[in-house]
This record gives sequence, structure tokens and C-alpha cells, in this order.
Amino acid sequence: MKDKIESICCIGAGYVGGPSMAVIAEKCPEIKVNVIDINEKRIERWNSNDLKELPIYEPGLSKVIEKCRNRNLFFSTSIRENIENADMIFISVNTPTKVKGLGAGKASDLKWVEACARQVAKYSKGHTIVVEKSTLPVRTAEVIKKILSAYQSDSTEMPNKPTFDVLSNPEFLAEGSAVYDLEFPDRVLIGGENKKAIMLLSQIYSKWISEDKILHTNIWSSELAKLTANAFLAQRISSINSIGAICEATGADVREVSRAIGSDKRIGSRFLDSGPGFGGSCFKKDVLNLVYLAEHFGLLEVANFWESVVHLNNWHKRRISNLVVQKLFGTVSGKNITILGFAFKANTNDTRESAAIQICSDLLEEGARLKIHDPKVKREQIEICLNAPTKELNKIDKNIHNNELMWIKEKNLYEAIRNSDAVIILTEWEEYSDINWIKASKIMRKPSWIFDSRSIVNPQKVNEANLNFWRIGDGS
Ligand code: NAD
Ligand code: UGA
Repeated sequence: MKDKIESICCIGAGYVGGPSMAVIAEKCPEIKVNVIDINEKRIERWNSNDLKELPIYEPGLSKVIEKCRNRNLFFSTSIRENIENADMIFISVNTPTKVKGLGAGKASDLKWVEACARQVAKYSKGHTIVVEKSTLPVRTAEVIKKILSAYQSDSTEMPNKPTFDVLSNPEFLAEGSAVYDLEFPDRVLIGGENKKAIMLLSQIYSKWISEDKILHTNIWSSELAKLTANAFLAQRISSINSIGAICEATGADVREVSRAIGSDKRIGSRFLDSGPGFGGSCFKKDVLNLVYLAEHFGLLEVANFWESVVHLNNWHKRRISNLVVQKLFGTVSGKNITILGFAFKANTNDTRESAAIQICSDLLEEGARLKIHDPKVKREQIEICLNAPTKELNKIDKNIHNNELMWIKEKNLYEAIRNSDAVIILTEWEEYSDINWIKASKIMRKPSWIFDSRSIVNPQKVNEANLNFWRIGDGS
């Protein structure tokens, strides 16, 4: 094993691989960082001269890319060459919930991780430290080790037989603040057995993170801690959303309840914002993964406890769509509804598991016509999520009452609001907190409703504009 890492390869140029490697490249200019992916289009976009075309929108990311790309940060599809030359390989591929077969609906699908392990086993030369960056079920490192050692025993006759260490180094960044989270993490977690391998990975992070924040554990604790962290965060959101429903029924206000409980240091104030239900690619997947693990070990009460976090989230999203229909006199058929925000949270273009998908689908099912606005999500992406095609309307089209188009993507905020019976805020984009409600009121169909699932609107301003108003967890 070398005494320092000179070359890194990251397999998977996604929401984690891209930003996390960009920050390593920025902080460690002496290390060559190659990010590889099988998705040619994604790699093309990472290499695009127009930084607005990067495949991921993250505040601050384009600056880091501009500084490091083609200096010591490279994006390519050259898998073999980059694996061969790497001292350390990060596996940062997708690990979605299995859709069929054993454990379908709960267990993680590890086929991409397994494929990576096989590629690494096949092409690596010398000693390679393999780092699990993807979120994985506990004991996945064992699977990776088995695959690597199977190839090793095949090559016993080779003079330079490849050797491996496997570490777990889960990522805790949140989308929308990925660059900040990577630059100023609460902690970095490294799980493993070989002290030197752990030290080499720690050395990389210690370039910009103080050593007391770099935690070392055994490999299984590290894998489990990642799932547990996401499960605890998701649990807080389901908890506060459940309390929000009680607030609406009783006259309490969920914002006041959050403040009151959050100022107790033992509880803390973060992750207590009631919203339309948690989305994102990981919370649901990771909680279900934990459920699967508990079931696997016969811990049914544990499994049921965690599964209720996901059940409540599903119920909560439906509760919002039902409530909109009820407020609009029990039917939304043929009514125009403006959806503000399609991303699962602000400052990202990611729509995976966004609450907007369920809520829009419910309203479309009820026959509503949706005008969807989001500053970063593209129409094509919404089309995939809703599984229903549409087109961008030009001026002439807009004058035609086209019954076939049940939803459209509208670029202009006030055009999205024009002629609507209701506006539903689903993502907390900053521009939605500055809407001129008097102006909006003049162009909406009466009686008009504003539904604020993110608590970003000033209720007084909406009331002054003579609009009906509902917001999450407000029983007043
Ligand atoms: P992603 O889907 O955005 O990116 C994964 C990439 O891996 C894709 O571009 C895919 O083409 C590529 N890939 C798959 N198999 C490959 C192979 N054999 N060779 C080369 N490339 C391959 O996923 P993501 O959001 O970056 O998540 C990756 C992992 O990180 C997941 O396990 C996730 O749970 C975890 N995670 C995600 C976040 C987040 O904010 N998105 C945060 C922390 C942890
Ligand atoms: C989450 C975790 O916060 C990260 O630490 C973790 O690395 C990541 O999952 C992962 O493993 O993928 P992310 O999903 O990007 O990050 O974003 P969050 O800020 O956690 O938000 C998740 C969802 O919860 C969003 O829909 C958000 O709107 C919602 N949320 C969050 C609330 O409804 N209320 C809150 O108080 C906070």
C-alpha cells in the first residue's frame, strides 16, 4: 500500500459522486480525481463549457467545477483505464429500492454496486482501497470483499496480484446545500479494519476538516449509522407532520409547536418544519431498507416502528390533495390549479420522490388542469414523473382551450397563476415568498384559494388580497 493517495477514481457521477469529488479535487490539488459513469450524456454535461448545463444544480457547484475541471478533476466514461490507475476507488452509484424479486419494495437493489465491484476486481492493479460512498445495507462490504477476493484467487498466478481494502465512508450531504455540507460537514464517518487504509482516507479529509470531526468506527457501524441518520431525520418530519394534522383539527399552530419543542436542547430546532411530506431519493429508500433489515432478523416490532414513518408520509401527501379538492367545493374537475414548485426541496433540480408527484397525480386523477412552475426543473423531467406527456405552450396555443393538455409547464410565475382557481405551493423556492398577492388576486378566477404547504407566505398579505388561504398545520 502506498503512503499517500495520488489518484482517485469515483464510479458514479451523480448527485453524490459529482459534488463530493469536486470538493475533494478543490481541497487536494495534488490528487488526480477521475469521475466515471456509464451514462454518456451525464458525462457530456459534466464536461459542458456552459456551466448552466451541468447535470446537477447545486449552489456554488459550478464555481468549484470551473476551478478544478481539467486541472485535477476529470469526468469520463473510460472505466477500465481509470480503475487501473487508481489508488483509491469510491463507489458512488445508485442503490434504489428493489422493484421486483426477493425484498421488492423494501430492500436496496445492489446490482449497480455489484457490477462496480466486479469492474474493480477485473481492472485494478496493485493495491486499491475501495470505499463505499453509496448508502448500503449493513454487511454489503462483505459482499464487495467476497467479489474482490473471488477475482483475486482467479489471478493467483499473476506476478502483480491485485490486493484490496474495503472501507465504508457514507455521505451525509443534503441536496441544495451539497457544497456547503461537503466543505463544512458535521462529521465524516470512516468504517473499516485496516488502520493504514483508514489513515489514508482520513488524510484526504483532514486537508480541510478538523480531526475531531473525522470519526472512525467498525465497518458495520458505519453502514448502519448512515441508514439510522436518515431514518431519524425522516422520523422527525413524519412526527411533526402528524402533529400538524392535530394542529389543524384543534386550533393549534404547528410553527408555534415546533418552536416550543425545538427550543428544548434535547430535541433541537432543525428538521421540525411541517411540509407536504418528505421527498428525495433517500429517506423513503433508506427507512425501507432498515425495515427490511429488521424483518430479515425477525425483529418485527422494530420493522413496524420504522415502516410507520413511511406510511405516515404517504398518508400526509394524500391528505393534502384531498383537502384541496374539499376546499374547492368537492371537485377540481376542469378547474385550473397552479403548482408552485416540483423539486422535492428548494435549491435543487431533483424531483425524486417529490411530494409534488403524488399531489399532482392525485389532482390530475380528479380531472384538474395543472399549470406547473419550477425555476429549475425541466418540463421533460416533470413528464417522466407524471408519466403524462405535454408540451410547452406558445402564445397561440395558450388561446386555444385544449382539453387534451391536462398539465403544462409554465415559465412565467404570474402566467402560471393567471386564470387559476387555486395556487398550491409545494417547494419553498425563495421567489414564492415574494409573490405580489394583490396582483395575483386580480388575475385569478374567483373564489380563489392559496394553499401554502411550506409556510413561506405571509398570511396577512394573502388576506389583504382577498384570497382564501390554507397553510399547513394552521388551526386558527
Ligand atoms: P445518482 O443516480 O444521481 O448517480 C448514480 C450514478 O451512478 C448514475 O449516473 C449512474 O449512471 C452511475 N452508475 C451506475 N452504475 C454504474 C457503473 N457500473 N459504472 C459507472 N457508473 C455507474 O445517485 P446519487 O443520488 O448520486 O446517489 C448515489 C448513492 O449515494 C446512493 O446510494 C444514495 O443513497 C447515496 N446518497 C445520496 C445522497 C443524495 O443527496 N442524492 C446523499 C447521500 C447519499
Ligand atoms: C437527506 C439528509 O438530510 C442528508 O443528510 C443525507 O445525506 C441525504 O438525505 C441522503 O442520504 O440522500 P436530502 O434528501 O437531500 O438529504 O434533503 P433534506 O434536506 O434532508 O430534505 C429531505 C426532505 O425532507 C425534503 O423533501 C424536505 O423538504 C423535507 N423536510 C426537511 C421537511 O419537510 N421538513 C424539514 O424540517 C426538513
